[in-house]
Amino acid sequence: MLQIKRAGHSTLTTPDIERTIDYFTRIVGLSLAAREKNRAILATKSGLEAIVLERGGAVDAPRLSFQVAPGSDLGEVASSLKKAGMKSERRTDITPGIGEAVAFTDPKGTTIEIFSDFKFAPEDNTFTGVMPIKFGHIAYQCPDVKGMVKFYCDVLGFKVSDWRSDFFAFLRCSRDHHTVNFLRNDKTAIHHIAFEVRDWSDIKRACDMLARNDIKLTWGPIRHIIGHNIAIYHKNPDGVVIEFFTDLDQMYDEELGFFEPRPWHQDRPQKPKVWGDDTPSNWWGPMSHGSPQHAQALAQPAAAPVHHGLQTAPRKPALAEARTKQAQKKSRGKTKPRR
Ligand SMILES: [Fe+2]
Repeated sequence: MLQIKRAGHSTLTTPDIERTIDYFTRIVGLSLAAREKNRAILATKSGLEAIVLERGGAVDAPRLSFQVAPGSDLGEVASSLKKAGMKSERRTDITPGIGEAVAFTDPKGTTIEIFSDFKFAPEDNTFTGVMPIKFGHIAYQCPDVKGMVKFYCDVLGFKVSDWRSDFFAFLRCSRDHHTVNFLRNDKTAIHHIAFEVRDWSDIKRACDMLARNDIKLTWGPIRHIIGHNIAIYHKNPDGVVIEFFTDLDQMYDEELGFFEPRPWHQDRPQKPKVWGDDTPSNWWGPMSHGSPQHAQALAQPAAAPVHHGLQTAPRKPALAEARTKQAQKKSRGKTKPRR
């Protein structure tokens, strides 16, 4: 089994690369580390490559890179994948920072590029946009969530942090609560991309920054219960949902088996678990359990983008089913009290 250590960058295709570069540099506050005719490499200000943009007809996230331990033998990475029944190939010049990687296709069709060593992009001391500290996580919709979880755990060394019922999985490969999410849906597609910011004051600055640029939040600020991150969401010019977050749960010691205790946790200790499908999406206010917004959302199953606040298309079947169940419970007066 491989042991992924962190996510490197996500490759996104965009029909208007100039517009998307402008968004990621001026609004998100990434640095343009390299520019080719049909491609751009964007890094955090401190030099971690985060997003690769490619000119393309459709908006998609066809590739994702992961780092294994520095110095790892990529030949052994390929052997390990072969043992798991995966065909892979060696690729070079992935980005200016990644000279070599082993590439293969995961079961939902995303090309995964595994690298062991990389170079930081030059530091950028200019002050523009939100300026996240890293590419935090990526969430996908796909039909076979259980199959994806098994593959990522058995082959890539991920661990399950939490489940929402049986349709939304949160997987970690480091101390961060989640680096990838899988949400069950009929179609396979990107769900959202998340960048970590330093703290709450950067979330506040991001809200003002987005508003000043006429970009409205689609959700937040909230504190999630699963993962407990403080988060805001908006859509980029291509309609991709972008999250900025801070305060994500941390598993500092795997042997202890619980997330670093925090005053806002529901359980003591807060261990990985399966959360009920009636778990509120927001610990603080709107969309918290029993709030008017929550009741309204439950009364309109599969209509508005409400549960995780992210999608434009109706969410069938998993979330819609969950909402319907919640509405039924509520109408029977059996709603569980908020914890
Ligand atoms: Fe997220």
